[in-house]
Amino acid sequence: MRDYAKLQRDIHKTLGIDLTAYKEQQMRRRINQWLDRYRLASYDELVQTLVQDREHRAKFVEYLTINTSSFFRDTRVFDVIEEVVLPDISANRRPRIWSAGASIGAEVYSIAILMREARFTPGLLLATDLDEAVLEKAKTGIYLPSQVNGMEPKYLSKYFKQLDNGNWAIADSIKNMVVFKQHDLLKHPYERNFDLILCRNVFIYFTSETQKRLITKFVHSLNPTGYFIVGSAEQIMDPASFGLRRVSYCIYQKSA
Ligand SMILES: C[S@@+](CC[C@H](N)C(=O)[O-])C[C@H]1O[C@@H](n2cnc3c(N)ncnc32)[C@H](O)[C@@H]1O
Repeated sequence: MRDYAKLQRDIHKTLGIDLTAYKEQQMRRRINQWLDRYRLASYDELVQTLVQDREHRAKFVEYLTINTSSFFRDTRVFDVIEEVVLPDISANRRPRIWSAGASIGAEVYSIAILMREARFTPGLLLATDLDEAVLEKAKTGIYLPSQVNGMEPKYLSKYFKQLDNGNWAIADSIKNMVVFKQHDLLKHPYERNFDLILCRNVFIYFTSETQKRLITKFVHSLNPTGYFIVGSAEQIMDPASFGLRRVSYCIYQKSA
């Protein structure tokens, strides 16, 4: 019998990650796949390996947190961001923007590119993630060809440089617009006064109670009329109960 409750406690102790906030079935399935992949016989053997082997630990965190991301992910949403959200929040101030669960930085750099194109200047463009290894990747701003696939060629040629090994490096002018920080949405305090918060494709892994708790915190961190954007599969039921109204797709706005 694999004792998941004990594993949750052990993971919390060794990695500081609170698995109780994540959907159990999905997490168990992923962890069991990891055990199979590394021929680990039990949760205890996994924890022992995590304690002893730094490299295994880093790989496991990366696996557990699922870092899939891409530039301009969900173009319909980015069209609304470009045409409605950014002009609105930049109209008479330098907006504060937070990409939470930023992964490899593709989302926040997409926002930075749109702002640069429109000559908007952010007051803050903050990108946070639980996983330090993925944040390091984001900070280097170097991407595999497959990761820039699908980006409009005009942005690729204007804001990226292809390296000798075929990878693409994002321009310093875009990189320097972003502040990266390690941040656990479940346990660290949230900064305030944001005009736009994106937390996309992160909620799906959390239990519905955790989702509600986090939405409440995000709304608290938004300025009145600020925007909150979730992933396309993460529509908020009854947005009014959080003080939000739906603008379109998975884009919400806090009441004035
Ligand atoms: C699937 S990626 C989403 C990336 C990007 N937002 C997007 O939509 O393309 C999910 C990210 O959430 C991060 N994450 C998971 N749990 C987290 C937590 N408790 N606090 C902060 N980030 C978390 C993961 O490390 C991962 O990078």
